[in-house]
Amino acid sequence: MEKIAILASGKGSNANAIIDYFQQSDRASVSLIITNKPKAGVLEIARQKGVPCATIPNDQLDPGLIETLQSNNVDYVVLAGFLRIIPHVVIRAFEGKIINIHPSLLPHHGGKGMYGMKVHEAVKSAGEAQTGITVHEVNEKYDEGKILFQKSVQVDSDDSPEQIAQKVQKLEHYYYPRVLEKLINNEKIENGN
Ligand code: GRF
Repeated sequence: MEKIAILASGKGSNANAIIDYFQQSDRASVSLIITNKPKAGVLEIARQKGVPCATIPNDQLDPGLIETLQSNNVDYVVLAGFLRIIPHVVIRAFEGKIINIHPSLLPHHGGKGMYGMKVHEAVKSAGEAQTGITVHEVNEKYDEGKILFQKSVQVDSDDSPEQIAQKVQKLEHYYYPRVLEKLINNEKIENGN
């Protein structure tokens, strides 16, 4: 069984979707949730679902993150709203096995400071006709790793940023677990569009 660790700083709705999806799997399961925020909503999700969790404060991520991943024999690292740069040592150790999801069609509306509602507000004010999700490998820069998968959704001219966020989250919860499963199974990941 492959072991997945999810790194999250926020409410954890993607973590929730991934935990649920892999409960049916005989190949992999979520064995650990790691957060850098002691009050993150994802901790409550982990507690409800019975998944062990670890809180590592920002100033202890290096070397705390690699030590925690290795001592728990983690195989895949999945970022789901984790708002910190990942230490080099972790990126090197998990090359090809560490992914992130971004709530827009990268390279549009990504980079440092572009997270949460800021992304959807930028999509709205740019007057985009579509937005979507991007699953990508993680490297040392925000949102710049190799793109593995994208799926778009239409933005209607009267959509509010909140409505755009809802459309995007629906895509995230459906596709992120499935793209991760293909990565673990070493299957070809077809682009969603
Ligand atoms: C998601 O929109 C994801 O794309 C981004 O952070 C958000 C996390 O949301 N990287 P949640 O905590 O999973 O609800």
